[in-house]
Amino acid sequence: MRLLVAGGAGFIGSNFIRYILSNYSEVEVINFDKLTYAGNLENLTDIEHDPRYSFIKGDICDPKAVEKAVSRLGAKGLIVNFAAETHVDRSIVSAGSFIQTDVFGTMVLLEAVRKHKIARYLHISTDEVYGSVERGSFNERSGLEPNSPYAASKAGGDLIVRSYCKTYGVPAVITRSSNNYGPYQYPEKLIPLFITNLLEKKKVPLYGDGKNVRDWLYVEDNCSAIDLVLREGEIGEVYNIGGGNERQNLEITRIILETLDLDPKKWIEPVKDRPGHDRRYSVDCGKIKKLGWRPAKSFEDGLKETISWYRENRSWWKNTKKKQSEFKMSWLEARH
Ligand code: NAD
Ligand code: DAU
Repeated sequence: MRLLVAGGAGFIGSNFIRYILSNYSEVEVINFDKLTYAGNLENLTDIEHDPRYSFIKGDICDPKAVEKAVSRLGAKGLIVNFAAETHVDRSIVSAGSFIQTDVFGTMVLLEAVRKHKIARYLHISTDEVYGSVERGSFNERSGLEPNSPYAASKAGGDLIVRSYCKTYGVPAVITRSSNNYGPYQYPEKLIPLFITNLLEKKKVPLYGDGKNVRDWLYVEDNCSAIDLVLREGEIGEVYNIGGGNERQNLEITRIILETLDLDPKKWIEPVKDRPGHDRRYSVDCGKIKKLGWRPAKSFEDGLKETISWYRENRSWWKNTKKKQSEFKMSWLEARH
C-alpha cells in the first residue's frame, strides 16, 4: 500500500503516520508538507529513518509539486489530506492563507487524484463546519453553518470534495472530527497552551465566561477512526468522529490546574471573548460506530497522559512557545 499523507508534519498528521507505520508492515508513507509555522519534522524523529517513510517539502497549492508527488503513488495509491491552516484565532486576524490552503489547495489535490486515478482520497475536515448547537448533536446530513473564517474555509473544502465526487467520480470520503488532544499538538490550542503556560508559571487566558463546550477526542482514537474510514468508508460519504467527552473550557482548565497542584484563583486570567465564539460543538457518531469504531481512551486518562507528555518533552515545545507567545500577546492586546 502506498499512502501520501498531506500535512503529515502537523499534530494529527504526524500521529497518524506513526499509527499507520506501527499497524501495517506492508506500507510506504510519503509525507508531503509545506512546513508552515505549525509543521515540525521533530514530531517524527522516532520514525524518520524507517525505510517505509519519506518526506517531501511541498505546498498543496502548488500544482506541479503535487502532481510530482502524486505520480509516485500509482493507481492503487491512497491520499489522506490533513494539510490546512487550522487555528481559529489566526483566521480571525487574517483569513487569506486559510482560503488558499483549505479551499484552493484541496482542489489542487483533487485534480491530481483525478489525473492519476488514485484509489481513494480521504479528506480530513472538522465538526466546526456545522456551527454551534445549544442542544442535541449534528449528524452528517445537518446543514453547514460555519461561523469563523477557519470553519468557512473548511466547509468550502468539503464542498469542493463533494463536487469532484459527484461531477468526476473522484473516490473521496470525508471525516469530520471533534477537538483532538494529545502529544505533539502545537501550543496555540487550548489544552497544550494551558499546560505549557502553567509549566512556565504563566497565567492561562480563558475566553469569555469559560462555559463554551467542546467534545474532546484523544488523537490516537481519531487515527484509528481515520484508518477505518480509509479502508471501509463508503465513497462519497461523510463520517463524524467524536470522543463523547463534552466539557466546558473551565472544567478542563480546573483539571489541568488540579493535576499540576496549582490554585485556580491565582492562575486563570479571564479575557475578552473570541469574536463569533461558537458556544457548543456536538456530533452524532452513530454512522462510524456502525462500522465498528469506538474511542479507546477515557478523557481522564488521556488528559493525565497528555499533561505528563508536555512535562517530559519541554525541549519539543520550548522554542515554538516563544514564537507562539508573540502571536498570543498581540491577539489578546488587540481585543482588550
Ligand atoms: P496542524 O496545524 O497541527 O498541522 C497542519 C499541517 O499542515 C502542518 O504540518 C502544516 O505545515 C501543513 N500545511 C499547512 N498548509 C500547507 C500547505 N499549503 N501545503 C502543505 N502542507 C501544509 O493541524 P492539525 O491540528 O494536525 O489538523 C490537521 C487536520 O485536521 C486539519 O485539516 C484540521 O482542519 C483538521 N482537524 C483538526 C482538529 C484538531 O482538534 N486539531 C479537529 C478536527 C479537524
Ligand atoms: O472542533 C474541531 C476544531 O477544534 C478544529 O477543527 C480546529 O482546527 C481546532 O483548532 C479546534 O478549534 P477550537 O476553536 O475549538 O479550538 P481551540 O483550542 O482554539 O479552543 C478551544 C476552546 O477554548 C474554545 O472554546 C476557545 C477556548 N480558548 C482557546 C484558546 C486558544 C480559550 O478560552 N483560551 C485560549 O487561549
